[in-house]
Amino acid sequence: MTDQTTLIPNPVAQAADRTNTRKVFIKTYGCQMNVYDSVRMGDALASEGYVTTDRAEDADLVLLNTCHIREKAADKVYSALGRLRDMKKERNAEGRELMVGVTGCVAQAEGEEILRRSSAVDVVIGPQTYHRLPQALKRARQGERVVDTDYAVEDKFEHLPVPDKKVIRSRGVTSFLTVQEGCDKFCTFCVVPYTRGSEVSRPLAQILDEAKQLADAGVREITLLGQNVNAWHGTGPDGSTWGLGDLLYRLAEIPGLARLRYTTSHPRDMDDRLIEAHRDLRALMPYLHLPVQAGSDRVLKAMNRRHTAEEYIRLIERIRAARPDIALSGDFIVGFPGETDAEFEDTLKLVETVRYAQSFSFKYSTRPGTPGAELGSQVAEEVKAERLERLQALLLKQQHEFAESCVGKVIDILLEKPGRMPEQLIGRSPWLQSVNVDAKSSQIGDIISVRIVGTGPNSLFAERIER
Ligand code: SAH
Ligand code: SF4
Ligand code: F3S
Repeated sequence: MTDQTTLIPNPVAQAADRTNTRKVFIKTYGCQMNVYDSVRMGDALASEGYVTTDRAEDADLVLLNTCHIREKAADKVYSALGRLRDMKKERNAEGRELMVGVTGCVAQAEGEEILRRSSAVDVVIGPQTYHRLPQALKRARQGERVVDTDYAVEDKFEHLPVPDKKVIRSRGVTSFLTVQEGCDKFCTFCVVPYTRGSEVSRPLAQILDEAKQLADAGVREITLLGQNVNAWHGTGPDGSTWGLGDLLYRLAEIPGLARLRYTTSHPRDMDDRLIEAHRDLRALMPYLHLPVQAGSDRVLKAMNRRHTAEEYIRLIERIRAARPDIALSGDFIVGFPGETDAEFEDTLKLVETVRYAQSFSFKYSTRPGTPGAELGSQVAEEVKAERLERLQALLLKQQHEFAESCVGKVIDILLEKPGRMPEQLIGRSPWLQSVNVDAKSSQIGDIISVRIVGTGPNSLFAERIER
């Protein structure tokens, strides 16, 4: 997952204009899977009469869908809860209700502790139990403070309502679809195996049904999600075991679905079939997020990544041989316990060799309960900061070089949403860049050919061409 601890705007916000219905505001932190979960929580609540709002002040229920990946991410939750406590007091003084729920990975990791630390919280619900949110809210309304963080005893997806076509389409022409959750890799720095539980794949039929519903509603691009999405496996129609590659071949047959992506992958699970899918499938976009974390073999071993730098580079070569125009994106951690200057230089060397189009890099953050937290030789904050700055300068340079290399190219873009100017739309390139182009809003959902004519800080500029 590309995790950004920044706030992602509420993806399920729709006009909440009925005054007699309850309104929910969902604030999403963390990775794409949380974005997907927020949408599905909105669905679960919609069937109880809630409408979503993008204004916390209007809400009768505020949900914080939280991330636990780094210390800062978790701290943000407690400061938001402080503000909500004050808001709740004001509301109660006016005789109005305000309920507060904590969901997601902090909920799973901290459970009861959240109730102890914040009097504002009514319900705490983990990532595997949010289909039971409506019941939890009913209990909370009767005065109980509810914690429901069981690992999956039942499959939440079997219990979540499917919204109608109009609602799906109102969310846009691209969609996430979770196919796999949890992680058994236990990298020594990472909380995910503890917050999301062990690796579980959704069954093939369930995924195909959801993909067809999305396509029928007008969704043109689906991004398959999983903490280890390429560890997905299922049973094919002939009883054989299918991997993510097989799933992609099958999804590419769904009428209307023009583009497929997946994230996040682990290098150990990039199998031949998946690489073949990149070679064969026009619908599979030439973009791959393949985190490596570090370039030193000693550090990789201490992180329990279970591959060497050389193996990663060879893998990239094989992927590039299959799909020469593929763009790569990566995640990096600087200052893992014991990382020396020379070991950090190995990360820079690996980045020079691979050349990334996009990247996410972080200072190592000690997470209680992970093996990394037990290691001595923590790296000083200033050293981490200095390394991060050097790494990010290099990665940013590569990102700009990649964007510049697109200028002059003729490419297809998927028109996604209105641009800043009237008569302008923002489209998406095969390599996940935003592209500004003149087009009418009725064309949203179309895939058109454009020539890239320039680059901006975070986007490209294009002119239409007829093909
Ligand atoms: N499953 C994905 C990553 C999920 S977490 C994978 O295996 O690559 C997203 C990213 O957050 C990680 O790739 C890592 O770069 C970063 N991250 C995770 N734990 C961290 C920690 N304790 N400190 C700093 N960054 C961390
Ligand atoms: Fe975390 Fe490693 Fe699992 Fe990714 S593979 S979620 S980094 S434990
Ligand atoms: Fe954060 Fe949980 Fe995603 S810890 S990165 S929200 S899986």
